[in-house]
Amino acid sequence: MKVISTEKSQILAARLAAELNITLVDVKFSRFPDGELYLAAGPLDEETVIIGSTTDSDALVQLLLLIDACEGSENRLVLPYMGYARQDKRFRAGEPISARAVARLFSSEIKDCITVNIHEPDVLGHFRVPARNISVAEDVGRYIRSMGLEKPLILAPDDGALAFAQGVASAGGWECDNLEKTRLSGSEVTMAPKNLCAASRPVVIVDDIISTGGTIATATRMLYEQGATDVYAACVHGVLIGGAYARLMACGVRDVFCCDTIERGCSRISAARCIAAALRK
Ligand code: R5P
Repeated sequence: MKVISTEKSQILAARLAAELNITLVDVKFSRFPDGELYLAAGPLDEETVIIGSTTDSDALVQLLLLIDACEGSENRLVLPYMGYARQDKRFRAGEPISARAVARLFSSEIKDCITVNIHEPDVLGHFRVPARNISVAEDVGRYIRSMGLEKPLILAPDDGALAFAQGVASAGGWECDNLEKTRLSGSEVTMAPKNLCAASRPVVIVDDIISTGGTIATATRMLYEQGATDVYAACVHGVLIGGAYARLMACGVRDVFCCDTIERGCSRISAARCIAAALRK
């Protein structure tokens, strides 16, 4: 078995190859003069783990080309971050179910597929090969443990993220809750932990995705008003668009960290251990 990756997941791929003690395939990436993507894969094995986060449309096409280049091998696909997965329903007439389109696209020439903390697990049903989702909640929890915080409160920004937050919290035996929004007036909304109190303690807000950072920035301001000593922000997929990292730091978040499902400067937690364990099963 060998590991091969797109440009977007090369660091995670190298970590995964090291975890599995197998070879990482060298791939040459370039573009044709008209801008179209080109790649050429080095020698493959009978079984290949193909890994690539589809963070943008080029990344999606590159992964498609890579799968085609691996024709003849028994291919296992890992989508650390599956782009387009959030459009998982037809919300208005005329819209595509983008997650379904992408799942179908990645269902040929592969034996099975693994996703990491996919936003909506129902999307897995759109693959035409066996697909399963794994969670790095325990790895996020271990990282938080290494920070040595005194009795942190682990907070999900909403009840949809509570199961993930509980998984993170159980790594350290910490208390966990989710934020609840209360509308005070037509224009005023307040956010506070649903059952617990944030006063006089550090709080770590954990979510699957930080996109614009808007949700966490608002929550951070309110948690400080409620007496939290320090607020941290952690997520699996650091999408971090529109200056989200700087926005969060500017509003007083002490640290922002994420996993290497999207390779960022603040990707301090690796999904490699978790993916390797899933591939061994
Ligand atoms: C959405 O449901 C996700 O779980 C995140 O909560 C969301 O993507 C965060 O968005 P933003 O960072 O833009 O507030």
